[in-house]
Amino acid sequence: MKRSPCLVGTIAIAALIAASLGSVTQAQAPSPAAAVAAAVTFHKDVEPILQKNCQSCHRPGQIAPMSLLSYTAARPWARAIKTKVVAREMPPWFADPQHGKTYITDRSLTQAEIGTISTWVDAGAPEGDPRDAPPAVVWPKDGWSIQPDVVVRGPSFKVPARPPSNVIEWTTIIVPTGFTKDTWVTSVEIKPSDLQVTHHICIAFQPHSEDVFYYTPFWNDKPRDEEGIEIKANPATASTGAPRINPAQQRQRSANGVGGAPPPGNAGVGGGFLCYLPGNQAFDYRPFQAGALIPAGYDISIAQHYTPSGRESVDLPQIGFTVSNTPPKKRWVTAQAGGAGNGFAIPPNEPNYLAPPGELEFGAEAELVMMMPHMHVRGRDMTYTVVHPDGRREVALSVPKYDFNWQMQYVLSNPVKVAPGSKLHVEAHYNNSTSNKFNPNPNRWVYPGNMTWEEMMSPFFGVLVDTKTDPTTVFRRGVVVNGGGE
Ligand code: HEC
Repeated sequence: MKRSPCLVGTIAIAALIAASLGSVTQAQAPSPAAAVAAAVTFHKDVEPILQKNCQSCHRPGQIAPMSLLSYTAARPWARAIKTKVVAREMPPWFADPQHGKTYITDRSLTQAEIGTISTWVDAGAPEGDPRDAPPAVVWPKDGWSIQPDVVVRGPSFKVPARPPSNVIEWTTIIVPTGFTKDTWVTSVEIKPSDLQVTHHICIAFQPHSEDVFYYTPFWNDKPRDEEGIEIKANPATASTGAPRINPAQQRQRSANGVGGAPPPGNAGVGGGFLCYLPGNQAFDYRPFQAGALIPAGYDISIAQHYTPSGRESVDLPQIGFTVSNTPPKKRWVTAQAGGAGNGFAIPPNEPNYLAPPGELEFGAEAELVMMMPHMHVRGRDMTYTVVHPDGRREVALSVPKYDFNWQMQYVLSNPVKVAPGSKLHVEAHYNNSTSNKFNPNPNRWVYPGNMTWEEMMSPFFGVLVDTKTDPTTVFRRGVVVNGGGE
């Protein structure tokens, strides 16, 4: 709209008059815009938004750099808050809305909420009346995002300041669950103590064995070149998982320091694997009245990956569970739809490489509920499509602009029902060109590997099944269960 100079003049004169007449007159005859702005206050309008969409991360002990729990804490950030929410950089959220799906993990703001925050900031970020404030959210204690019934001590891990090639290999450590009876776990959270150095921590449940060494780290020192890239005899067929060891192999390894092959998958447990990754707080099955059944005496195999920060640090992760004494309505099973392996090779300077798609077939009735795309710094996009037995294709999740810094969990508000014979088809593209600002070297071929400068394609997902369904029958083929670690 073209502004009329005459109108601008009128406003200027009105302002002058108001100023000369003092605050009483101003209060009696505010301009309509000022009245709206004055009406928007922190406690009445902004605080409810921060509670719902920001405080899960923006409170002490969580990943975000500052707390947004109170007016005093939030006020200095007002400008930055406006900039980030208007640009839709905060809250982080990457699902394409055009496929008509909604997700319970979606923290993104409506246009109206963005408007409220902008108006508030433009009006000078007024506090308003504390009596207008919504009741404070009662967050779980000690930085948990679930309030765990059971806490298992993880292994302490010393993270060196500057290891050779700046690489700390993935490490596997086994700890006991302490479960003395079969236990329905209804949510799981992995809580590192040092978020700065924790790249990820993934867990999987496995049967106990007499000869297991608890709290003992195992890893493979892989041959790496000067850029830290793993040197493989046959890069295209190399495996990308963390070393998953069974106790017999662990014993052998402790003697000679050589790793063994991963044990078979663990679909029977249902819990599959779960990871702590930045932006990914907990796996909570409670909204779906679901749980994972962990047999008595099982152990937890923990795959940890730390990134050196230039200062030495010791991380002491904890694993928290909520449990249910009665069987939940549904069983939760996690898996991975294929993965980067045979044939995965990104050519140098390739901006839009389509990886060999991941695909699996369902063998039982299930509901697709959770998806968690995982790639590394060259990851560009990932799409999960359910192909129903009649050929109908339904996009359950599309992440058109994948950002490696955010490993988000997309939990569908309305899970997609799948019949036996349905397929889950996953496609992902990678950008190995200079147009990817995170690309450390566009002139190399990129193969699967554990480090962020190598690549992965890990379409993690979770389904709900009837508690009577045998979890080993849920998937027919093309699936990596308990691939863990990635
Ligand atoms: C999933 C966790 C998460 C949620 C939800 C979230 N943030 Fe953040 N926020 C972060 C992290 C981590 C950072 C630091 C990294 C970055 O800037 O990307 C950050 C950074 C910011 C910054 C920049 C701080 C700086 O140093 O300049 C602002 C402003 C911000 N967030 C505001 C918000 C607001 C407002 C909301 C809610 C409407 C929100 N965030 C929701 C995790 C989150």
